[in-house]
Amino acid sequence: MSSNIAELEKRRDAARMGGGQKRIDSQHAKGRLTARERLEVLLDEGSFEEYDMYVEHNCTDFGMDETKIPGDGVVTGSGTINGRLVFVFSQDFTVFGGSLSERHAQKICKVMDMALKVGAPVIGLNDSGGARIQEGVASLGGYAEVFQRNVNASGVVPQISLIMGPCAGGAVYSPAMTDFIFMVKDSSYMFVTGPDVVKTVTNEVVTQEELGGAVTHTAKSGVADVAFENDIEALLAARDFFDYLPENNRIGVPERPTDDPWDRIEESLDTVIPASANMPYDMHEVIKKTVDEGDFFEVQPTHAGNIIIGFGRIEGRTVGIVANQPIVLAGCLDINASKKAGRFVRFCDAFEIPIITFVDVPGFLPGVSQEHNGIIKHGAKLLFAYAEATVPKITIITRKAYGGAYDVMASKHLRGDLNYAWPTAEIAVMGAKGAVEIIFRGKTTEEIAERTKEYEDRFANPFVAASKGFIDEVIYPHSTRRRIALGLRKLRNKELENPWKKHDNIPL
Ligand code: HXC
Repeated sequence: MSSNIAELEKRRDAARMGGGQKRIDSQHAKGRLTARERLEVLLDEGSFEEYDMYVEHNCTDFGMDETKIPGDGVVTGSGTINGRLVFVFSQDFTVFGGSLSERHAQKICKVMDMALKVGAPVIGLNDSGGARIQEGVASLGGYAEVFQRNVNASGVVPQISLIMGPCAGGAVYSPAMTDFIFMVKDSSYMFVTGPDVVKTVTNEVVTQEELGGAVTHTAKSGVADVAFENDIEALLAARDFFDYLPENNRIGVPERPTDDPWDRIEESLDTVIPASANMPYDMHEVIKKTVDEGDFFEVQPTHAGNIIIGFGRIEGRTVGIVANQPIVLAGCLDINASKKAGRFVRFCDAFEIPIITFVDVPGFLPGVSQEHNGIIKHGAKLLFAYAEATVPKITIITRKAYGGAYDVMASKHLRGDLNYAWPTAEIAVMGAKGAVEIIFRGKTTEEIAERTKEYEDRFANPFVAASKGFIDEVIYPHSTRRRIALGLRKLRNKELENPWKKHDNIPL
């Protein structure tokens, strides 16, 4: 018996060594943790249960039959985060550069299948050179098996990807189909083809960081959601983030105790809107003063800053927040903002997370570049997402709600459940000056000024919309949290279904 146990110990130790001490040291020298160390930070202490520790690749080409490493470059299993079940895989760069073989893919598929069966989220820690080159098409098949599961799981269980090293080729497409992507600065990269191939094909010279680093993807491309300084920071943030998410699409949002009174009055909100309609203010302040304990997990904070998205809680229950940000581009909706918020609204809707929308939007961003790059189609994404969403939707117009953007931002007409406006709200087709210059073209400056005043008096308030029932109530800004809390209580058993369809056809 004891020799059997000794054998088990020996095999486990061998698997835990991955690609060997030299490669582990090299991983550490780059400031990265190993696959197993990462799981230790991510999961509750002692909760990790590993599967398939002894799986080996089945490749015999290029001398591969001589080099088999138990586990085959990915550590898989389940664990808990603050007591809630999660399935995980963590690619081991010390084993063939974390590259994906047929067996490696099978291991990932096994945990994804389990997660889907029991309704628990999947977190992937990605650190991979892409398809295992020695395996050729077997590896491509493995990728496609993973992709198919990403799609099957989409909207059923949350999927989060952490990019923690180089991710090249196929290694980027699975994360791309998950719900959220976190990256580590100066240490993780995502590209379909790396700098060498780019140089050969297009003659462009670019570093890994510039081409596909964390800053590039969280600021420019919008492929990733949040960038962190190092592995530990990213993993700890993933734990926090996980706490906001439901386990699956049927179970409802998690609830956690809070000492923040549901009816907390926030007097300072009464003066947050500047005297001049053209002066900006930071919408973060409004959000943080509304949610429990000021806790707001912002997603994509450095991409399309003209719209803010993220998670907070009201009375301990998760809400998704979407808000125009007057500090950036005056809060206009542009292509990037529409795509960013559209996808977020769809995530919330898929997982029964109520959506709170704060509106201060002067309209869609005008410009040749916006038009030529398809603002019509991209803007329609956000419109579509809000219109199809059946979760509780509460909207607060703090200031401007102009034009088509008024319609888009969870208006009453798109089945907003509770549409509130602050007394500072201005709900109109466009700003007074622009409107008057169109309808009174050619008039004298004095007449224009007079008509502008007339237009402002008529529309620069919430009462015309309120008189039509488009706004349910004009509320004191200081009572915003209380109103939202009451609204969410009322809407907890909301039932609303879209007409039967196989699926919709959102403008892509
Ligand atoms: C097999 C690989 C590998 C791969 C790396 N290794 N990538 N083994 N298949 N794809 C191995 C290396 O041989 C090396 O082994 C170890 O991993 C570490 O690699 P290094 O190159 O020494 O590390 P580094 O300098 O940090 O560079 C990392 C890297 C680079 C940027 C990821 O290795 C790289 O460019 N790899 C190839 C990327 C790629 O083109 N992949 C295929 C894409 S095609 P030793 O034994 O020395 O430790 C693809 C198609 C799928 O993915 C499409 C599906 C849609």
